[in-house]
Formats: sequence, structure tokens, C-alpha cells
Amino acid sequence: MSVTILGIESSCDDTSAAVVRDGLLLSNVIASQSIHEEYGGVVPELASRAHQQNIVPVVDAALKRAGVDKHELSAIAFTRGPGLLGSLLVGTSFAKGLSLGLRCPMVDVNHLHGHVLSHFIRRKEDDRVPEYPFLTLLISGGNSQLILVRNYNDMEILGATIDDAAGEAFDKCAKVMGLPYPGGPHIDRLAAEGDSSKFRFAKPHIPGLDYSFSGLKTSFLYTLRDAVALDTDFIEKNKADLAASLQRTIIEILLDKLDKAVKATGVKTVAIGGGVSANSGVRAAVADYCSRRGIEAFIPERAFTTDNAAMVAMAGYFKYLDKQFCGYDEVPYARVTV
Ligand code: KG4
Repeated sequence: MSVTILGIESSCDDTSAAVVRDGLLLSNVIASQSIHEEYGGVVPELASRAHQQNIVPVVDAALKRAGVDKHELSAIAFTRGPGLLGSLLVGTSFAKGLSLGLRCPMVDVNHLHGHVLSHFIRRKEDDRVPEYPFLTLLISGGNSQLILVRNYNDMEILGATIDDAAGEAFDKCAKVMGLPYPGGPHIDRLAAEGDSSKFRFAKPHIPGLDYSFSGLKTSFLYTLRDAVALDTDFIEKNKADLAASLQRTIIEILLDKLDKAVKATGVKTVAIGGGVSANSGVRAAVADYCSRRGIEAFIPERAFTTDNAAMVAMAGYFKYLDKQFCGYDEVPYARVTV
């Protein structure tokens, strides 16, 4: 009998639903919330309200696009954390209600596991998936982690940021340049036209496999402050070169620790995930690093880099096979590690 999983993601500002049948993706619907743009960041209360408006039509669209009737579902997988509590509560409550109504089990998913397992999303049987063990560089707005994945249910964090995440470095520096939120994609676009060797910013010297991005942010801020004091048009004149130099520095920081982790573990496969893995420079640098070392690289489709329910349905599918169901008394959690 086939296994059909509905995935629900509502951890931050994207409401998403997806259907996976026997490990193959049938649909993935995402409603993004533009309301936060004018505030320069996600406003939790507005995010929860938008999730409430979006969740029914988004789930409905995911089932319709998959050609699946809700009574055919084997289980409902939902993101239980980490994320914004109000946002998570919408997805969790909806999953509980639907599960009770349909009398089908629920599976709770750790959002970070979802990102790691996004490389197992397949549209057809012969789509490539990573072989265990592999290393994941998980880089998003809230996390920068190096994770050794021994199996879908056996992951170890080898290193993590001790302050800002890579996405925060992109967003906060972009904000200083007057770019809209989130700044990462704007830096990416500008960097394509800039000279990445024009500016030099400080790089951290953190022992082991941990990351740090707050020093880079301060160095970027001071460079701009001093330059703007002499020429008020400095940012406008140099924005492409600033973006390219910033992006190059972030990539160097990321790859330095990735290289150390590859050498320490001896893995033959490297994957990247999270919002920052949409960055063109990061994708090219990781692909290049892996090809030079004869390592297999898994670079996700851009649709699966940011928050999506396809990865939640996929992680839920694995847990369903292990019969790891979730009770109705479980509540969302804001913080957790892998
Ligand atoms: O995983 P994600 O969607 O969710 C959170 O962690 O909240 O990641 C969002 C982050 C933001 O910091 C955003 O600026 C960054 O991913 N991002 C990018 C790009 N696309 C999204 N950063 C650099 N280049 C991009 N193309």
C-alpha cells in the first residue's frame, strides 16, 4: 500500500504545504508574506495572522495539485520547531485538527532536519540522492551549522555560529547599504556586477569548526562609516564592489570551515541547504570546491533552499516509516539544535 504524507510548514513567514507519495514529491505550494517588507524584518504577530489566512487555501491547493483526496493521507507531517512560536502554533493546531478529523496519525518535524533532508526530495525514481555519511552546510537567516549526517535519524552538529548567522551577515550589511529586507538576494544580484577584490573586511579566527560573523559585520560597518564621512555618495558609487567583496568574504569564511570539516571526517559527499544556499556565489564556490577534491556536491533547487513544506513532508515520510508518531499533547518549540 502506498504511503501519502501531507507536509505543513509555518515556522517563519512562509505558509507552505506539500504532498509526498512513496518518497516522490507530488506538489509543493508556498504562500510568501510580503507584509513584512515595509518593516525591514519579520513581525511575528503579523506572520501568525497571515498564516491563519493562508493555511486552508495553501493545504487545499497542495492536495488538488497532487491529485490526492484528504482521506487518502497516511499521515500529516508538520514543523514543530524551531521558529516563531505564534507561527508554529498555526501549523501545529491545523495539523492536530486535520489529524483528528481524518483519524490519521501526525508526525512532528524538526525544521532543521527538514533542510538537511531536502536533498532526498525526488520527483522521479531515478533522481539523485546523497549517500550516507555526508556533510551538510546549513546556512540560513538563523543558523550556520556544519552537520555530519550518518543517517536520516542520526545527525551530529560539528560546528555552529557563536554569534550571527551567515544570512544575518548578508541582511545586516545590506541594511547598512540601504537595501530592502531581506538583503541577501540583493547582495547576490549586485555582486554579479562588482569587483570582489576592491574591499577587504575582517575575517574571524575561531578555533575548531564554529563560525562567527559579527566581526565581519562590524568591519563592514566601520569601512562604510569612515568612507561616507569623506564622500556621502560612497555607497551609491561602490555598491556593486561592496556587495561583491562582502559576498566573497562570507564565502571564504564558510568554505574555510567546510574544508576543515571535510578533512576531519573524510566524507565523500557535501550538501548545502537553507536560504543562503540560494546565493549564486556560494553555490558556485561549493560546486568548485567539491569538483577540485573529487567530492560529490548536492546543491538544492532554489525552491528548496528557503522554507518549504516539501522538505517537511520528506522528513515526515522517513519518520512515518519508523512509526515515530506525535501525540496531541505535543506543543511547538522555539529553539532546538539538530
Ligand atoms: O532558510 P531561510 O529562508 O529562513 C530563515 O532562516 O529565516 O533563510 C533566509 C535567509 C535570509 O537571511 C536571506 O537574506 C538569505 O536567506 N538569502 C540569501 C539569498 N536568498 C536568501 N542570501 C544570500 N544570497 C541569496 N541569493
